[in-house]
Amino acid sequence: MSAPILAITGLTKTYESGHQALKGIDLEIRRGEIFALLGPNGAGKTTLIGAVCGLVRPTGGTIRVNGLDAARDWRSARARIGLVPQELSTDMFETVANTVAFSRGLFGKPRDDAAVERVLRALSLWEKRGAKIMQLSGGMKRRVLIAKALAHDPELLFLDEPSAGVDVELRREMWAMILKLRDQGVTIILTTHYIEEAEEMADRIGVIDKGKLILVEPKADLLGRLGKTEATITLAKPIEAIPAQFADWPLAISDDGLTLTYTITAAEAEQRGLAPLVKALDAAGMDFKALDTHRSSLEDIFVDLVEGRA
Ligand SMILES: Nc1ncnc2c1ncn2[C@@H]1O[C@H](COP(=O)(O)OP(=O)(O)O)[C@@H](O)[C@H]1O
Ligand SMILES: [Mg+2]
Repeated sequence: MSAPILAITGLTKTYESGHQALKGIDLEIRRGEIFALLGPNGAGKTTLIGAVCGLVRPTGGTIRVNGLDAARDWRSARARIGLVPQELSTDMFETVANTVAFSRGLFGKPRDDAAVERVLRALSLWEKRGAKIMQLSGGMKRRVLIAKALAHDPELLFLDEPSAGVDVELRREMWAMILKLRDQGVTIILTTHYIEEAEEMADRIGVIDKGKLILVEPKADLLGRLGKTEATITLAKPIEAIPAQFADWPLAISDDGLTLTYTITAAEAEQRGLAPLVKALDAAGMDFKALDTHRSSLEDIFVDLVEGRA
């Protein structure tokens, strides 16, 4: 296994106010993955990114970027990182091409028109290269920010709440763009409180709450382990109680005796599906009019996790 692109150990941050925003974070990021850091507002996501990007001075712990100590080899570590910040800010009167070229220069990279062109084309901004930022739509502005973050060819890209305040269509467009960047070999860490965003894109998910990472797991494992599939069965005729032969089944009945709810883990649903239930209902002579299934989302899981700690 290759060395992690980012290795964080024992990272703490106490702000001058005395607020402990990070309480000992250990995290390794693998080259080429999309890692989603989920957490409620105030959990410490932006602080964590700030510490890695050199914007927040850690109180303790170490951060290594591609093996380089971020405190000692600040410049070389930082050159490998691109950041799309949570707060949007860029010079509205500058052109798209200049904004990106300038950002490249900030990292001490020599002028390279071909590199700028590559980034602009990758983000479908090439046609707009001469436009002033203020002339662009909201979606285009977001893309410029990503282009700016990529101008110096970083290996690791942070996106802090990339879809905050963005409409659904633009969010989808951005997701496609992020996946494309990953295919091009960029490692991506994004923070979000839109669970759907993590569900859509992440290879692994970390949940942060009150300055602590409470979970880091591959998305598929997390959904399989904690996800549930719920089937709702609408019976043709109401029943008084669940028949005795179903005593051991994960079944519940509604007050009117017309609806059964069958709850199994996502992993079970994957393996056996609903066939055993349908067969057993049939054998018991219980006709049903409808059967609907609902898969619990990462959202349900996340709410359970964080609320359980409140
Ligand atoms: N510069 C600062 N000074 C004092 N407290 C801060 C500062 N920045 C953030 N905090 C506090 O640290 C906590 C974590 O903030 P932040 O990292 O921005 O969380 P998130 O990005 O997850 O919403 C919050 O309680 C926030 O109020
Ligand atoms: Mg934040």
